[in-house]
Amino acid sequence: MSKALNGVRILDFTHVQSGPTCTQLLAWLGADVIKVERPGEGDATRGQLRDIPGADSLYFTMLNHNKRSVTINTKKPEGKGVLDDLIRHCDVLVENFAPGALDRMGYTWEHINELNPRMIVASVKGFGPGPYEDCKVYENVAQCAGGSASTTGFDDGPPMVTGAQIGDSGTGLHLALGIVAALFQRTSSGRGQKVLAPMQDAVLNLCRVKLRDQQRLERTHTMHEYPQYPDGKFGEAVPRAGNASGGGQPGAILKCKGWETDPNAYIYFITQAAVWPAVCKVIGEEGWITDDAYATPQARLLHLKPIFRRIEEWTMTKTKFEAMDILNKYDIPCGPILSMKEIAEEPALRATGTIVEVDHPVRGKYLTVGNPIKLSDSATEVTRSPLLGEHTEDVLGQLGYSSEAIAKLRAAGAV
Ligand code: COA
Repeated sequence: MSKALNGVRILDFTHVQSGPTCTQLLAWLGADVIKVERPGEGDATRGQLRDIPGADSLYFTMLNHNKRSVTINTKKPEGKGVLDDLIRHCDVLVENFAPGALDRMGYTWEHINELNPRMIVASVKGFGPGPYEDCKVYENVAQCAGGSASTTGFDDGPPMVTGAQIGDSGTGLHLALGIVAALFQRTSSGRGQKVLAPMQDAVLNLCRVKLRDQQRLERTHTMHEYPQYPDGKFGEAVPRAGNASGGGQPGAILKCKGWETDPNAYIYFITQAAVWPAVCKVIGEEGWITDDAYATPQARLLHLKPIFRRIEEWTMTKTKFEAMDILNKYDIPCGPILSMKEIAEEPALRATGTIVEVDHPVRGKYLTVGNPIKLSDSATEVTRSPLLGEHTEDVLGQLGYSSEAIAKLRAAGAV
């Protein structure tokens, strides 16, 4: 079967998480992704958080599927020669080095553009132009600077980072979209361009509802769906909202049977207005259907805490899965709090290829997250991550280097 990005060649100069997420997605969509790594060391994540001595870590393997690995020392003149050839050969260069690193290596936009005017140069940086543009950035810094940490957690606790890697993987997703758009524009312009996805901007994009709320707060000085309403005080900035739903339909995380010993025996319960009578029937509070204090969404906002306490009395009598079965019959929106163990064992996610078992020559079998984006005419087959420099000969051969030339480059420590 052909793939959406068949024929697109990516020079993958990325490392750690944000850039590799982007190029992995492009590989799953069919691009030929050539990962360039430093000889002997490679991407630092190969050795980070190792669970099997001598084997590439899960951190690395789970972010670098379907790629080829080439080692090049791009600080040696002979290495630069190979990189020049790769730039001429490829359509897109993706990188997420610290600000200025690519320029220091000698690969300014002007130089790359001279070598290949059709090349798209795509970068992740921590910040866009401004006071912090020269800073190195990791995931949690982006979550803090992008508005996520100040709006996550409980009102009486400190700012909190989320487990979802919105700074790294979230920015990688944004960058992938920018690259695909630039490739499309190139079909008519004939030119490459620069694509930049700053991590702060990507996190802010994912937090846009909080900027919405900031403006609502400034205008009305209160927000009725936040847990601070009606008793607490609002300050000048959007407060942390705990597990409130954040939308027009109030929601909460409620305990289920077994919560005393199982840290994930909880359910997310949404009191969607359309199914309020069903919610009342399920929990045995039919009187609330017509009681003026509960009958309308507006009236209920004044009593959300006692309402959720009463619903929790009911959820605590059921396991999260029993509660799901009952609530789904009434179309009441809800979701079990699934542990990673439960997700890893979920047959439906295996069936759709979102959880995949991959075999690796050094580490053996492991689980990974496959392509979450499903195209009906471009199926994804997840293949293992490459060993360091596994494809150096292949790729250099493709660029026209003879075995003798490759041996010379090796002797010079350039590949
Ligand atoms: N051959 C020779 N040198 C190479 C090389 C190769 N194949 N690949 C990389 N290098 C060099 C770079 O040129 C750079 O050298 P320099 O500092 O002398 O200019 C050096 O390796 C280190 O690169 P750098 O990006 O600074 O790595 P770091 O480990 O110090 O920093 C980050 C890591 C992630 C903090 C930084 O890269 C960064 O801020 N990136 C942008 C934001 C980002 O993506 N963050 C999220 C990461 S998940």
